[in-house]
Amino acid sequence: MTFSTKSAERFGNVIDKSSYAVEDPLVKLQYVSRGQNVVFGRALKGENYDNLLYVGKILESTKGKSYLGADAWLDTTFPHVIYITGTRGSGKSFDLGVLVEGISELAKASPIQNEVKPITSIIIDTQSQFWTLGYAPRETIEANKIQLDELKRWNLEPNNLAAAKVYVPPGSTTFLGAEKTLQIRPRDVRAEEWCALLGQEVYSPQGHIITATLEALGDNDFEIADMLTYIGDDTNWPTVAESSRNAITYKLDDYRRTNLFSASGLSVKDLLEDGTCNILSLRELRNEDKSLITAVIARNLFDILGRHHNRKKTASFFQKPFDADGTPDRVWLVIDEAHVVAPKDQISPARSALVEYVKRGRDAGLSLVLATQQPSALDDRILSQVNVTFSHRLSFQSDINAAVDRIPTKSVKTMKFAGTNLTDFGDMVRVLDAGQCFLGDQASSRTVLVQIRPRVSAHGGYSPF
Ligand SMILES: Nc1ncnc2c1ncn2[C@@H]1O[C@H](COP(=O)(O)OP(=O)(O)OP(=O)(O)O)[C@@H](O)[C@H]1O
Ligand SMILES: [Mg+2]
Repeated sequence: MTFSTKSAERFGNVIDKSSYAVEDPLVKLQYVSRGQNVVFGRALKGENYDNLLYVGKILESTKGKSYLGADAWLDTTFPHVIYITGTRGSGKSFDLGVLVEGISELAKASPIQNEVKPITSIIIDTQSQFWTLGYAPRETIEANKIQLDELKRWNLEPNNLAAAKVYVPPGSTTFLGAEKTLQIRPRDVRAEEWCALLGQEVYSPQGHIITATLEALGDNDFEIADMLTYIGDDTNWPTVAESSRNAITYKLDDYRRTNLFSASGLSVKDLLEDGTCNILSLRELRNEDKSLITAVIARNLFDILGRHHNRKKTASFFQKPFDADGTPDRVWLVIDEAHVVAPKDQISPARSALVEYVKRGRDAGLSLVLATQQPSALDDRILSQVNVTFSHRLSFQSDINAAVDRIPTKSVKTMKFAGTNLTDFGDMVRVLDAGQCFLGDQASSRTVLVQIRPRVSAHGGYSPF
């Protein structure tokens, strides 16, 4: 482990000077002078430094005591809601990879994890680029060479996730040969989610048909074809206009043909193998379908883990034996391009499920990681519990304002960049390069500029083959 003072175990000394000189002192920071380590996202745990994942290095020089070049870690003991913002190409998906590498079981031991107990994760992979987490970067690939050189500089070894599973919906391109089919069960979709998917209000005639149909089919396994049969039966609808039934029939039939739904589809419980990373490759789906899948996953997660933790607490209170039935204690749900899944200005199936997820998630051991290039376009009700932020380069003022609003600590007041004094935080964010961000958490007196470390597994911007 590198949370130590032994030089052989240290990360490379890659940052010894900086063009970013912050004038505001860091009056509060979780700093461990042994080995020069800074810990973010940590509730006080005394001298216990387990469950830390390596994020990168402090990139700013600071007035007063400077931490330039110190190693930055994120504590994963307690659930987080992490919010990553930045323009195209600023390093958001890269960060998601860095975080997932840090919490997952790796093919071989790595100093990027300090006593981490692997955590199960589910990635909503809207661009289908995270399958590479299962592969180490390769010498034979031009684009990987730069990454391998970077890893050497940082004194890190290439690695890959030991248990990564890739799921694709029917009809999507496959190329690994190991992809699993992703279908969802119609019974897992609630009436309001069907309505959001079909662009209907719950209290509209079509919304009423959906609600009544689901009620009639009950809690059994059923196909969309069974919904269509029920809707098509005149005797079930003495008072409902035929035109409304026809309209909903056409839409549902369209969904039946996509094969995205099946009575024997995925049960979220099957994804919850301890320490496994489940990558849902959704690039070829319509945005509303990406949103629906996210809704089903999020809602099932808080149901399953909520029940699990309640049973666990009761068993412990009454000192009874606890049968864990394989459910993990902790799960991370990771959503790239979150504004696509939960947009602000449209009804989307995922919205209420995610609002609920963040409200109830902490007690159920659930973390959420959201990345977006358009903070102003994301439904901000899901951001109420954000406790860690990664703020990359942004350009538009509306996006900067929306991102800064969610930083759980103070932003920077004055920073000198290349000889110029910047006094507006938006201007500071505008000058950042890819892989650089202000990291904010409640344990630090203000956000701190960090250089994110290289990925140890292949990054999905290019192919490892
Ligand atoms: N920490 C880093 N170290 C080295 N290179 C990085 C780092 N972060 C990002 N990059 C470089 O920047 C490129 C873009 O990063 P990434 O794909 O994460 O952008 P993004 O913010 O997700 O963009 P988009 O909004 O288009 O998805 C990467 O392919 C990589 O080359
Ligand atoms: Mg991206």
